[in-house]
Amino acid sequence: MAASCLGRGVVRLLGGLRGVGARGLAAPRLWGSASAPAAPAGSYQERIALAASEPAAFWGPLARDVLVWDTPYHTVSDCDFRSGRIGWFLGGQLNVSVNCLDQHVRKSPESVALIWEQDEPGTEVRITYRELLETTCRLANTLKRHGVHRGDRVAIYMSVSPLAVAAMLACARIGAIHTVVFAGFSAGSLAARINDVLQPHGPDFCQHPEQPESRFSPEPPAKCKVVITFNQGLRGGRVVELKEIVDEAVKLCPTVQHVLVAHRTDNKVHMGDLDIPLEQEMAKEEPVCAPESMGSEDTLFLLYTSGSTGTPKGLVHTQAGYLLYAALTHRFVFDYRPGDVFGCVADIGWITGHSYVVYGPLCNGATSVLFESTPVYPDAGRYWEMVQRLKINQFYGSPTAFRLLLKFEDSWVKKYDRSSLRTLGSVGEPINHEAWEWLHRVVGDSRCTLVDTWWQTETGGICISPRPSEEGAEILPCMAMRPLFGIVPVLMDEKGNVLKGGDVSGALCLSQAWPGMARTIFGDHQRFMDAYFKAYPGYYFTGDGAYRTEDGYYQITGRMDDVINISGHRLGTAEIEDAMADHPAVPETAVIGYPHDIKGEAAFAFIVLKDDAGDADVVVKELRSVVASKIAKYAVPDQVLVVKRLPKTRSGKVMRRLLRKIVTGRAQDLGDITTMEDPTVITEILSAYQEYKDKSGAAQ
Ligand code: PRX
Repeated sequence: MAASCLGRGVVRLLGGLRGVGARGLAAPRLWGSASAPAAPAGSYQERIALAASEPAAFWGPLARDVLVWDTPYHTVSDCDFRSGRIGWFLGGQLNVSVNCLDQHVRKSPESVALIWEQDEPGTEVRITYRELLETTCRLANTLKRHGVHRGDRVAIYMSVSPLAVAAMLACARIGAIHTVVFAGFSAGSLAARINDVLQPHGPDFCQHPEQPESRFSPEPPAKCKVVITFNQGLRGGRVVELKEIVDEAVKLCPTVQHVLVAHRTDNKVHMGDLDIPLEQEMAKEEPVCAPESMGSEDTLFLLYTSGSTGTPKGLVHTQAGYLLYAALTHRFVFDYRPGDVFGCVADIGWITGHSYVVYGPLCNGATSVLFESTPVYPDAGRYWEMVQRLKINQFYGSPTAFRLLLKFEDSWVKKYDRSSLRTLGSVGEPINHEAWEWLHRVVGDSRCTLVDTWWQTETGGICISPRPSEEGAEILPCMAMRPLFGIVPVLMDEKGNVLKGGDVSGALCLSQAWPGMARTIFGDHQRFMDAYFKAYPGYYFTGDGAYRTEDGYYQITGRMDDVINISGHRLGTAEIEDAMADHPAVPETAVIGYPHDIKGEAAFAFIVLKDDAGDADVVVKELRSVVASKIAKYAVPDQVLVVKRLPKTRSGKVMRRLLRKIVTGRAQDLGDITTMEDPTVITEILSAYQEYKDKSGAAQ
């Protein structure tokens, strides 16, 4: 099938549209324009100091000038980490899709918003701001006709494509809340995100006094009514059965009323009672849709991410602060200039895709690349051939991909012209020296600015990065280095004391609110407080450790909790353990992360079998497939070791740190094991591990 398919439905639809001209545009707005100055005047140091000491004086004028508003805000910020109240630009009203589309269509409708680099090598589709606005409006009208109202949730389970971006923006246009689910997640994970249990918010739930109609309303919001998907996806030349996965998921989701199915391939899929052909419905709609005027603190989207305990949390990002932060960090960090082609190769299912494929670049009127494929399809030159063909100016990717690519000959890079590149960015996990050097020297010809950017789903945008900085300031390898404007990092020792000075390591906290940060966890504000504000009262705890140099630069040292990072994908080890726990032959498991050459980290599972479990190899195989079907393929442990017992404290807690030491070859130095119930377990596990290594050439 689809080798030559160009995402027919979408492309046909885009090609067949008449221009709407000024008729389709939202009325001119009060305040603001994206071509306004990017930051208040002053040197870098002065701006950093102002953002830290007087956040309102720093962010207020930026919000006024950069965003377009329906109603000006009256209060720049009202934030208190002790109570978990976070509000920015209160009283203001705006529409995010107007900021990302209408304002640019008014000025230059034919400038290119998206370049869709399709899976099929060498095929690209360009979509102008006018086309994207029209598609967004048709999709927004389709959603409305199918009963989606302001405040409703819409799940988007789609591969990277213009239609997926239009789906996000269509939700924003009508005030619906989108939750994009990475199209590599299983049916079970998708269903869990659609169904996320809503607790009616109790009286103590933080209701922002200035925006009573916002997400903090005591009325529980509606459950997810609509899922948007493709018939199939394409990735690395392979077909992904997206619709089949959605079919399985919605069997478990009683609130879903419609599944809107677009076509990425020409193949027919079974259409059931819930299913509606999306392009056909969109063709019936007007390419014009009046935008809802949203409060600054109304919810824009939910994005689920893993923590060290419990099910994934739906982080809530709101309208104005998030958009402003995504747009400004996009300009500051990457040195984005009008006319540039910005290439972030992240999937839209992750926060990087939200902030630096969709919202930041589009708010800035940029041309943003949508990358549907993989770094090695059809060969290891894929990224660089694309850079040459699309003349990409900024390239933003993950250390996992860089580590994979550097194993191939440099000629895969060098045969393509990369002279358009100015900035190279890395995100999602620590970048090791080899990968940093390769990116800098081979890809960037030692002339591009390389930014290792640290941030999280929770932070909404980049928080620590070598740029912005004073003109030409040094960049040290493998270091995120400098906090962005308004980010005030603090390192804590184990007792919760703030560490002063340089050459210190501690728990990385941020002491001051910034506009892009998540506001709560959907339906569970207490969990938000417990996860981020309990460990160090008055501070946001990131979950990461960091080292500060004598010069005040930051280097991230990794997670301090039971979260692991597999190929830049964040996972709680408890999630993998929970997935395996249902197996009747496996009473106990413990999962840890261990260093992996390409993936950064991989999962290692220790499992205990019942006496009558039967063939251990069969059980291990079953466990692997359970994890793939309950979470996702990337979550499947690379190593599974059967042990008789797990190391535990006297109170019954599994001592994962000991397992980590065994797997990373540090068993000689187990540290304090006085709380251990039975130290002979260690000898048992060590000999099982040795045998396993001898047999399989395992990790380490
Ligand atoms: O541990 C840090 C790691 O990724 C975590 C955030 O994951 P997620 O919410 O999925 O967002 C990833 C994309 C922003 C962080 O807590 N991380 C992210 N960037 C870096 C990093 N670790 C080291 N260096 C980075 N540049």
